[in-house]
Amino acid sequence: MATAPWWRGAVIYQIYPRSFLDTNGDGVGDLPGIIARLDHVASLGVDAIWVSPFFTSPMADYGYDIADFRDVDPLFGTLADFDRLLAEAHARGIRVMIDQVLSHSSDQHPWFTESRAGRDNPRADWYVWADPKPDGTPPNNWLSIFGGGAWTWEPRREQYYLHNFLSSQPQLNFHNPAVRTAMLDNLRFWLDRGVDGMRLDSINFCFHDAQLRDNPAKPAHLRVGRGFSADNPYAYQYHHYNNTQPENLALMEELRALFDRYPGATTLGEISSEDSLGTMAEYVTGKRLHMGYSFELLVEDRSAAYIRQTVENLESRMSDGWPCWALSNHDVQRAVTRWSDGTGGDAPTDDFARQLVALVCSLRGSVCLYQGEELGLPEADVPYEKLRDPYGIAFWPNFKGRDGCRTPMPWTGDADAGFSPVEPWLPVPDAHRARSVAAQDADPDSVLNAARRFLRWRSAQPVLVGGDIAFIDAPEPVLAFNRTLGDERVLVVFNLSGAAVSWPLPAGMTLRALDGHGLAAGAVDGGELRLPPHGVFFARID
Ligand code: NOJ
Repeated sequence: MATAPWWRGAVIYQIYPRSFLDTNGDGVGDLPGIIARLDHVASLGVDAIWVSPFFTSPMADYGYDIADFRDVDPLFGTLADFDRLLAEAHARGIRVMIDQVLSHSSDQHPWFTESRAGRDNPRADWYVWADPKPDGTPPNNWLSIFGGGAWTWEPRREQYYLHNFLSSQPQLNFHNPAVRTAMLDNLRFWLDRGVDGMRLDSINFCFHDAQLRDNPAKPAHLRVGRGFSADNPYAYQYHHYNNTQPENLALMEELRALFDRYPGATTLGEISSEDSLGTMAEYVTGKRLHMGYSFELLVEDRSAAYIRQTVENLESRMSDGWPCWALSNHDVQRAVTRWSDGTGGDAPTDDFARQLVALVCSLRGSVCLYQGEELGLPEADVPYEKLRDPYGIAFWPNFKGRDGCRTPMPWTGDADAGFSPVEPWLPVPDAHRARSVAAQDADPDSVLNAARRFLRWRSAQPVLVGGDIAFIDAPEPVLAFNRTLGDERVLVVFNLSGAAVSWPLPAGMTLRALDGHGLAAGAVDGGELRLPPHGVFFARID
């Protein structure tokens, strides 16, 4: 049997470089800081790291606004530091994925400086420019995810330009083939340096509707947020025209053709559309992206029914494609808080934090674990005066933005958390210092040591890494499914609540419990499975 590619079923540890480790005393993490902590990453037993943007940027969106796609921002280090990171990670058997933002650049990018200067320069058509309506208002009703309209006026051209995010993140015009070629060349630059893969930011936003048609209004009861707050006017529209255009599929194929020239290199597309699961399935089919991930498990609903419905929905539409799941990242409230806040859960506990790691690593697909998830960190409460995220500042106090999940990693329990000798760019909460890496290292029962044990155990279970998934009917709060690979079938059960539960096992199952995962485990008692609070159960079905 041919060996599966490394990324199928891989655990990918996401590093937000600003908040990992500061080695040059400016309060912001950097690439040498990542190198200095690679042994921590290796101790987790993960397969790869995904490093959020570290490229030249004015940092209006903390690096997702890029002014030079081919260089490292001095805040984070140099290209030589990046090459060293790559070598040091590879020496430890860790693959390196970088974050590439194709759909937009910073307004400080030289391309935009040129493009905005007038209507007849070589880059005049590299961004999305449009004339005003006769009454001077923007060409259509499109909105920015980060608040306000999606169009900003440029006096030099007497035209508007499009931005789906901040006004300082102008949208590139992918209808122009020269833009596509230039962006693919930028990817080639990093592939040639030896990166193992790329997380492709907002990949379904690359094309817009060339006719600039208005988005239809969405009725109030359907205005649910998926990666953006539901009281954001962005939720008032169906985003039929500003993203996920049919032309984007050919771009996914061009991307794949490029990556196929670099054996082992993988793509992970971030997808947020009106039907993210459908788009995810479509974008990873055939010769398109290798993996896709969406915000569908990064929402508030944590019921077993919701998780089952989400995974089944995707599975029913995905043929040969491969999903990737995440419960936390740099854009949403940390999972132990988000899923403990009255939506059926209870106060965060270590058992809950351990269970979440096991849960996301037991679904079919690859996994992104976000820095701090291995420590069971709760969301930080950042006061208004200390907020840095423009998205949070725009929608405060209803939505506090993304700073609460971006605070520095607590390496030690010291006042500076072992992160930086100076005041860090975001504060470290006391509760995080108490859960530092140093404290948890020393405690065999800590979330950190449990996560290490579980990840190593999982990587030795091919059925969990690569098997199929099929759900079994079970009442809340039980989530039950089978994973199957060849002749091997494993039953996986989670008690998603903070109270013990019993679940009558399906008739006719002969089970052999699998242990070694080190989590609070259920036990079979007659025909019942008894699960402790946030308990798990893995058993081979004979
Ligand atoms: C998605 C990224 O995850 C988010 O952090 C960023 O602000 C937007 N894309 C814009 O690049």
